[in-house]
Amino acid sequence: MSFENLDYTSLDIPAAPFSDMSIIPSFDKKKVPQHVGVIMDGNGRWAQERGLIRTNGHQAAEPVVFDIIAGAIEAGVRYLSLYTFSTENWKRSPQEVRFLMGFSRDIIHRRVDQMNEWGVRVRWSGRRPKLWKSVIDELEIAQEKTKNNTIIDVIFCINYGGRAEIADAAAEIAREVATGKIKGNKVTEKMIAEHLYLPDVPDCDLVVRTSGEQRTSNFLPWQAAYAELDFVPELFPDCNRQILWRSIEKFTNRDRRFGGVKK
Ligand code: IPE
Ligand code: IPE
Ligand code: MG
Repeated sequence: MSFENLDYTSLDIPAAPFSDMSIIPSFDKKKVPQHVGVIMDGNGRWAQERGLIRTNGHQAAEPVVFDIIAGAIEAGVRYLSLYTFSTENWKRSPQEVRFLMGFSRDIIHRRVDQMNEWGVRVRWSGRRPKLWKSVIDELEIAQEKTKNNTIIDVIFCINYGGRAEIADAAAEIAREVATGKIKGNKVTEKMIAEHLYLPDVPDCDLVVRTSGEQRTSNFLPWQAAYAELDFVPELFPDCNRQILWRSIEKFTNRDRRFGGVKK
């Protein structure tokens, strides 16, 4: 079968528990990262390697996104941030940007019931200006529909940029100082953290980037300041939950010191 004819949207992932219990690694619950961020990179290269167009690579990523969400649930991850579209991705061709906007909107629309069934609370982190209204509308519908779910928060970072987020927090603090809501002239770390897009979400413990690139590309610079990093060689469309589990496994063996000294 050629890739063009594959219907990537039809992949039917069963409801939780998703896979054979015997293959889910039994992580020490206390050691599983509470918040994992994934930089889903390499879709374009995956497509190019097959003589396809870049957008076919994004299409091939859809089932992988949901396999990763399933794997995160199985591993006991509580927050999963997925870097879906950065504030820098507007630099791409108008065709690719248009595709990514429409595709994000459609994925949220067609997968919301599945996520709801899995106990996923869908959330969005990013900047409003420039982002297609139809994308925001679908995100808001999904957020409302899933707001009482507590198995996992899946945060779609769309039109997200870490520097933009910190700048937006600073601007909001300045406004609150001007209106007298914040008194004095002392800006604290806590104050900045409380003005980020999703202030209730805890710091990111583990960032996984696929496709072999060793950079974080403006993803969660504040929240991941002390995150463990794992750069895996697989292109995102070639990934699956086992790759996430491998990263979690490595994480459980890391020695996190946060600037202190190991006792
Ligand atoms: C990641 O894959 C998806 C987005 C950034 C939207 P890319 O589209 O960056 O794929 P490569 O890195 O060019 O292969
Ligand atoms: C990071 O990937 C953004 C997302 C995965 C959404 P990019 O492909 O945009 O990052 P660079 O250009 O390689 O740094
Ligand atoms: Mg890329």
